[in-house]
Amino acid sequence: MEKQRVLTGITTTGTPHLGNYVGAIRPAIAASEDESVESFFFLANYHALIKCSDPQLIRESSKQIAATWLALGLNTDKAVFYRQSDIHEIPELTWVLCCNAAKGLMNRAHAYKAAVQANDEAGEDADFAVTMGLFSYPVLMAADILMFNAEKIPVGRDQIQHVEMARDIAQRFNHNFAEIFTLPEAVVGEDVAILRGLDGRKMSKSYNNTIPLFLPEKQLRKAINKIKTNLLEPGEPKDPDDSTVFQVWEAFASPQETARMRSDFANGIAWGEAKKQLFELINSELAQARDEYMRLMEDPGYIESVLLKGAERAREHSASLMHRVREAVGIGAIC
Ligand code: TRP
Repeated sequence: MEKQRVLTGITTTGTPHLGNYVGAIRPAIAASEDESVESFFFLANYHALIKCSDPQLIRESSKQIAATWLALGLNTDKAVFYRQSDIHEIPELTWVLCCNAAKGLMNRAHAYKAAVQANDEAGEDADFAVTMGLFSYPVLMAADILMFNAEKIPVGRDQIQHVEMARDIAQRFNHNFAEIFTLPEAVVGEDVAILRGLDGRKMSKSYNNTIPLFLPEKQLRKAINKIKTNLLEPGEPKDPDDSTVFQVWEAFASPQETARMRSDFANGIAWGEAKKQLFELINSELAQARDEYMRLMEDPGYIESVLLKGAERAREHSASLMHRVREAVGIGAIC
């Protein structure tokens, strides 16, 4: 049976938080166990350069993200796990695709349009602080995806447009040159929770409301205690569907535990007690991986060796694909 190829990238500009874990990392690792899929996961550090000019931050984030996926049990003998910048064919393909992607298509990309609109509102020139990296971001992402003939791309809603652009670019290339690229499709987990953060909005680095995934135990307890609640007293019934504490509970608990907490809410469980139980639930799911994470963070040489091995495997695919692309567009050998 042909395996289905799944690919996704993680931009290396932050520390993984509970929202990333529940919404992306946990489902991706679980899916990679499936014998019928072949997973490609990578550290999107060229993408990091688009929004971050702090080398130390990118380096540290790369280490944290790699350590996180390994600590959570990603099997790197099965999944191909690599760093984008180790695959030299990616920037190479990006250029070839740039020469095939319509500028008008890029003008419509959300991230670029948002930057232009923000400039407009601030009375700045439309191009103020817009780099070619930001403008070309969807082409780089298309290269990531098309390089490995990936079929399914698990992403958040904000990335659907980019996967569609990759599909457009692939179609155009296939039509103009040779049928080389598989047309990718975005998959947005419908049942995957979008976790809420400390203030009740979507947990996101840009809202500064995150709970880092591998906080030491004491700090994790403190962070959970900071989740915003209302002023209802112990004994007063509480609405689970209006509660961040309950929503986070649901993302970690079994259906039975969730049903039990739902009735505890109806029976007026105290916020302090609900948070204490939430801490214990999350802590028990993460404690072992956290120990492993701490150990890995002290052993960057090991992480590096895993990434280099992953790159070697990835390059078995990218080198031959790039060879075909070079031939197809006429920049390969002359005979
Ligand atoms: N741009 C994606 C994000 O910010 C990360 C990413 C880069 C990606 N390349 C990719 C995701 C290719 C899926 C496929 O989330």
